[in-house]
Amino acid sequence: MGSMNLTLKIWRQKNANDKGKMVDYKVNDISPDMSFLEMLDVLNEQLINNGDEPVAFDHDCREGICGMCSLYINGEAHGPDRGVTTCQLHMRMFKDGDTIFIEPFRAKAFPVVKDLIVDRSAFDRIQHSGGFISVNTSGNTIDANAIPVNKEDADKAFEAATCIGCGACVASCKNSSAMLYVSAKVSQFALLPQGQVEATDRVLNMVKQMDEEGFGNCTNTGACEVECPKGISLENIARMNTEFLKASLKG
Ligand code: SF4
Ligand code: FES
Repeated sequence: MGSMNLTLKIWRQKNANDKGKMVDYKVNDISPDMSFLEMLDVLNEQLINNGDEPVAFDHDCREGICGMCSLYINGEAHGPDRGVTTCQLHMRMFKDGDTIFIEPFRAKAFPVVKDLIVDRSAFDRIQHSGGFISVNTSGNTIDANAIPVNKEDADKAFEAATCIGCGACVASCKNSSAMLYVSAKVSQFALLPQGQVEATDRVLNMVKQMDEEGFGNCTNTGACEVECPKGISLENIARMNTEFLKASLKG
């Protein structure tokens, strides 16, 4: 496959208060082997050489781990491929002559900071409200390996823990619900013995914080699961609902 010439329609917004607008750009000679972010690097180099302001976008690891690269591409969080983040998306998913729409993740709880960068600190505050366990570090600590864990539970806890907090679930949901994210964070502890001590407070506090941050309600559309780059299952939402009910009855 040869190189591609593309038209990009990109959301430009100077700051949180600016109204923002879509702006057209052209990039030429894009290799199908480039990642989506490398393609944006080409655009930014072009803009800088012309004395224009580069497009601000978030990224860190560029290998699907940090969850920073939150882009809405042609109407899909992380673009048209499945099971990948924007940094893992390859330009071979596009064709010569394509027009690509690039926008920030949109949700009330994720305000735009600049261009394609949104503030996802709401997720951090949810995590701080309960996404931890207390461990005895007095010197009499039980070796974690000495606590038996059912294999199926261990696998499910691990799967839940692969959530990278990217926010694609929120951006894909018509209600901007954060249920998939929060349920993954609740589940990774709910499934393990180490998570039992704070189980009641954890789910109540995390759900309370989620609501306070302005995320919408879950109406079971399942769009989050489809767009999640880590394949986090809706099963986690069902588990969180059970945990929440148990905790409410106790509380
Ligand atoms: S559940 Fe999936 S889409 Fe949502 S934050 Fe975690 S990894 Fe991203
Ligand atoms: S830049 Fe880290 S997941 Fe994409």
